[in-house]
Amino acid sequence: MNTSTASSPKTNTDTFPITGTDYIEFYVGNAKQTSLFYQHCFGFELIAYKGPETGSRDVVSYVLSQGKIRFIITSALQPDHPILKHVSDHGDGVKVIALGVENVDEAYFKAIERGAESAFEPIFLEDNDGYVKMAGIKTYGETIHTLVERNNYKGAFLPGFEARTCAININPLGFKYVDHCVGNVELGQMNKWVKFYEEVLGFKLLVTFDDKDISTEYTALMSKVVSNGNGFIKFPINEPAKGKKKSQIEEYLDFYGCSGVQHIAIATEDIVHTVESLRMNGIEFLQVPENYYDTVMERVGKIDEDISDLKRMNILVDRDEEGYLLQIFTKPIQDRPTVFFEIIERHGAKSFGKGNFKALFESIEREQAIRGTL
Ligand code: FE2
Repeated sequence: MNTSTASSPKTNTDTFPITGTDYIEFYVGNAKQTSLFYQHCFGFELIAYKGPETGSRDVVSYVLSQGKIRFIITSALQPDHPILKHVSDHGDGVKVIALGVENVDEAYFKAIERGAESAFEPIFLEDNDGYVKMAGIKTYGETIHTLVERNNYKGAFLPGFEARTCAININPLGFKYVDHCVGNVELGQMNKWVKFYEEVLGFKLLVTFDDKDISTEYTALMSKVVSNGNGFIKFPINEPAKGKKKSQIEEYLDFYGCSGVQHIAIATEDIVHTVESLRMNGIEFLQVPENYYDTVMERVGKIDEDISDLKRMNILVDRDEEGYLLQIFTKPIQDRPTVFFEIIERHGAKSFGKGNFKALFESIEREQAIRGTL
């Protein structure tokens, strides 16, 4: 099996229209502190809140925004709350990837009819700013997709939330939108979830990477990327492949406890500035060796950026038939070696940096070796 790229999905064959990623919700141990981390270190702005002060007795949520990206940081307030169990089982992690739809009832019942498992049935939320309809379907592990219909709402986020402004000075770092969201699934489960996205949500298979594309001397993985009808949503799905040592996917599964979101790729308009700011704010990145830059120009040809800036920031470059891309990966952003971020700037390229896979996975292995999990 070789790497293959399917032609771009056509909108006229879209059987499950999605307007975009509405929000991504993290369940964490301490939402107050985590939300400050995303404000201080990632330049997100606090826009809404719910908690005891707004009448929410058992759950607290902070809504953060930058560009088109919305993160919800949520914790439980009561000791027997299921969110606490989620955090105990998985550590801090992504619970919800919410998808915008025009009509929740139609989307939800279509998904159920096509074989999706329900996370929750359609609900109607209302306040003085209008109403929102939501429903939920399950995807891999304990992750869910919430479907959100918000055409008739003009409040800060959702009914039940109060608008908030930042108490601190925030310097936005140039984040634009969620480029893709990657799931790690257990051995043998990748095709099942590709089929789920194809059959239930009308996604198309965009590209396949086999273990020959993504392997080092020690470890390997396989990946398939699915994309929705309008091409805005891309979900790569990884599963471990046989190698001499434990792969990064197995390490993730050991620490997360089941399938889950591995990384969120954020598009930026000026990656050198974004990464420089993130580094100054204390964010750590995977490091590729200096000699990566000795041959990079031969491989990718002419680019607009100064290679010395990329080298200084350890930013990676790759090219496909349509253009080039710049990318870099953070180390895990919580105590467990699970969720991390990718920062990506695209110049025409629609691919995922295949030319960087080897250097990157060797870098991850060095981190695994330090953690004693290789
Ligand atoms: Fe990625």
